[in-house]
Amino acid sequence: GPAGLGVEVNIDYVSVCVVDLAGTGRVRLTEHLDNRGTPPAEVLARAAGIAARTLDSAREQELYPVGVALALPGLVSGGAVRQAPNLGWNQVPAEELFAAALTAEHPGHQELPVRSENEANLAALAELWFGGLERIRSFLYLTGEIGVGGALVIDGELLRGAHGFAGEIGHVVVDPDGPQCRCGSRGCLEQYAGQAALLRAAGVDGGGGLGVAELEKRVRAGDARAVGAVAEAGRMLGRVLSGAVNLLDPDAVVLGGIYRNLMPWLAAPADEELTGRVVSGLWAPGGGRLRASSVAGDAARGAAALVMTDVLADPVAY
Ligand code: BGC
Ligand code: NA
Ligand code: ZN
Repeated sequence: GPAGLGVEVNIDYVSVCVVDLAGTGRVRLTEHLDNRGTPPAEVLARAAGIAARTLDSAREQELYPVGVALALPGLVSGGAVRQAPNLGWNQVPAEELFAAALTAEHPGHQELPVRSENEANLAALAELWFGGLERIRSFLYLTGEIGVGGALVIDGELLRGAHGFAGEIGHVVVDPDGPQCRCGSRGCLEQYAGQAALLRAAGVDGGGGLGVAELEKRVRAGDARAVGAVAEAGRMLGRVLSGAVNLLDPDAVVLGGIYRNLMPWLAAPADEELTGRVVSGLWAPGGGRLRASSVAGDAARGAAALVMTDVLADPVAY
């Protein structure tokens, strides 16, 4: 049957997912790559290579992708990455480069339409569609990656803003004199609560998935420095989130990425900040409004499912 292909290109990995008409993930391929140290065209060509292999396995299962959506860790508009701070990309025509590379990898196949979107937005859509949020229709989504990503879902709709850039909570300033951020500003939230800052504060050497696994191991073992670092990140997140809650009045705040498994240590300090700073008086600690993302809050799956929403909206075109 018809299917959607989602391709997440992040700082140190590429993850590809195929979903069927029901949005169920059926094929998944993830590769760890140093995308930050590689020219953008090459990164997208590698991603297209992984996508081409995924297309072959999908066809073996009689799944026929009708389109591709790219999930990218930056400000995406008009088919291009305007800025991806942690990739060091500026004005990269991602859709065009990816489409050309996919055609080169897969000659003789019908060309697939390509669209693109910020990866945190797509993770939030996946959470909305598949995360079991039940009656929650308005939520803020935050994802801890190398950067800190965000998305605003209000009344069941993803807010994109004037250029598609809404939700960039990782670059909300925490301290104007703070450390230089890769976006060009200083003291952004991600300099305090992003993966690198958290690992550094916890005293964990090495980054990536291994560093995060080590951090999780240490907090579970009760290592004081690691627990303290996670709690401090929680307070920072809570402070910034209180501003966002005051602005947008969501039902819930959902934390994904590296924050998901750290919730037992992160939630209480974040909740405490929110309780003290949300002006409605409606934020109570442990009131269930601060939630961990489900495993479904996944950008590649959200991207693949977004393709299927196009199909459902206009079946005749496919
Ligand atoms: C970028 C966001 C991205 C986030 C997580 C931030 O630095 O500006 O667009 O969603 O990192 O990858
Ligand atoms: Na976003
Ligand atoms: Zn920044």
